[in-house]
Amino acid sequence: MMNGDGAAGGASLLERLGELADGCRARTTEAHRKGLGQFFTSPRIARFLADYPSLSGSAGKLRILDPGAGVGILGVAMAQRVLRETQASVHLVAVEPDPLAAAGLRLALDAARSAFGERFSAEHLGEDFLALDPATLGHARVSPVDLVIANPPYFKVSPSEDLGGDAPNIYARFMEVSSRLLVPGGQLSCIVPRSFTSGAYFERFRRRFFSSMSLEKAHVFDSRRDAFRADGVLQENVIALLRCGPTSDLDVVLSSSGGESDLDAPSLLLAPRTLVFPRDRHASIFFPTFAEDLRTIRLFQGWKGSLAELGLEVSTGPVVPFRCREHLRSRPAAGRTSPMLWMQHVRSGAITWPLGDGFRKPEYICTRGDERLLVPNLTYVILRRFSAKEERRRIVGGVLRKGSLPGSHLGLENHLNFIHRPGGELLDREADALAALLGSELFDRYFRLTSGHTQVNATELRELPLPSLEHLTSPMDLQPRREVLAQAEAALGR
Ligand SMILES: C[S@@+](CC[C@H](N)C(=O)[O-])C[C@H]1O[C@@H](n2cnc3c(N)ncnc32)[C@H](O)[C@@H]1O
Repeated sequence: MMNGDGAAGGASLLERLGELADGCRARTTEAHRKGLGQFFTSPRIARFLADYPSLSGSAGKLRILDPGAGVGILGVAMAQRVLRETQASVHLVAVEPDPLAAAGLRLALDAARSAFGERFSAEHLGEDFLALDPATLGHARVSPVDLVIANPPYFKVSPSEDLGGDAPNIYARFMEVSSRLLVPGGQLSCIVPRSFTSGAYFERFRRRFFSSMSLEKAHVFDSRRDAFRADGVLQENVIALLRCGPTSDLDVVLSSSGGESDLDAPSLLLAPRTLVFPRDRHASIFFPTFAEDLRTIRLFQGWKGSLAELGLEVSTGPVVPFRCREHLRSRPAAGRTSPMLWMQHVRSGAITWPLGDGFRKPEYICTRGDERLLVPNLTYVILRRFSAKEERRRIVGGVLRKGSLPGSHLGLENHLNFIHRPGGELLDREADALAALLGSELFDRYFRLTSGHTQVNATELRELPLPSLEHLTSPMDLQPRREVLAQAEAALGR
């Protein structure tokens, strides 16, 4: 029988399930696991997820669902906590179609049965979880459950697939089907990528999902590597607790840790719901984790300006290198070639071109008079579209001044965005001010808070709130920028 943490002599039950998962990982190929979106939760994170739901009032028989169960570490961790902390008994439904993982799951459920005794029962369903969706079936194959605990698979799915909704990634469909299998007031504790929180792709999902589910708590990992280190997963993850029912007015409990190692000492924050769900055009979700995050969101929410209001536009570099290799050159030809700019030419605050012999990419482009691929040699703020999370700033960009590079035109590759004034010219001082703002600590903080990924796409830049026109109109002098900076300092708590 179970003792303490379920330890049945030697390693605890969850540690033994962790070893089962290691064995499963060792017996399968990476391609097999990738195809199934299979990566296993460590015992420590499993305990954290199981500790998330409230168990107050739990009595009778609690039904727990573990969709995409792997070897069942999450469902077993949840059952263990319910049995330890309440008088309720537990029935666990574990869904896992992969025969290799299911073999481990059966062993795990047997071990749980003998550790937990009569108050515990379990069943394994070896089918596609999305096919259990009561909304598509028209009836319930699985009776409603009180708790769902999930680390769903993740991989992209095409919008035409109709199982479980139209979300673009299988993990979000798992969240939706889970929400439809909960009793009113039931809770979903899950670890999922952060990508559903912002951007247009997941907007419809967000609107549907949060019309029936209320976010109560979330934990954000600062490190992309830490949550699933053993599986080499590089992904920004969030642990969320959601309750089936109307949105409450209560503050959302937010926490963060660097990764798994400091999970027991997270920083905590109570965030007003209006700052987590700012009701912007895309129904985004923000996860502020420090008091200065709250001040930053409030500051940006007060700004009504935008690039469009300044008469500016963001475009993506028109040169897609693999489609126009024939135009790219390593050497200049007098009067015929234009400078070609790549991501590597853009460093924080500056454009450096040419990089010369050490740089392997062609630094010139020759389009023989076809200027559609080129942009006029004017002043721009040029920004990288991709950044590494570990980079100091998410928005990396610099000012390119009119005429500072040779020739009448330039080639910009499509990993770059550039800010310009359609039908006119961006002034140097406007470009300087914009680049300083976008590259500031304040904008970096806001961008990290509001964007669940490391891309800096043109849409997000277009939607970035900017200080009002009085602060940022041309000609920009130093005084308004000082005011913005003073506000920024206040937001950052200095
Ligand atoms: C990210 S893993 C998590 C495993 C386990 N829950 C854990 O936390 O260690 C997702 C699991 O979902 C399973 N899976 C993939 N597609 C599925 C589907 N359509 N229905 C049910 N399970 C699925 C995979 O085989 C994998 O074991």
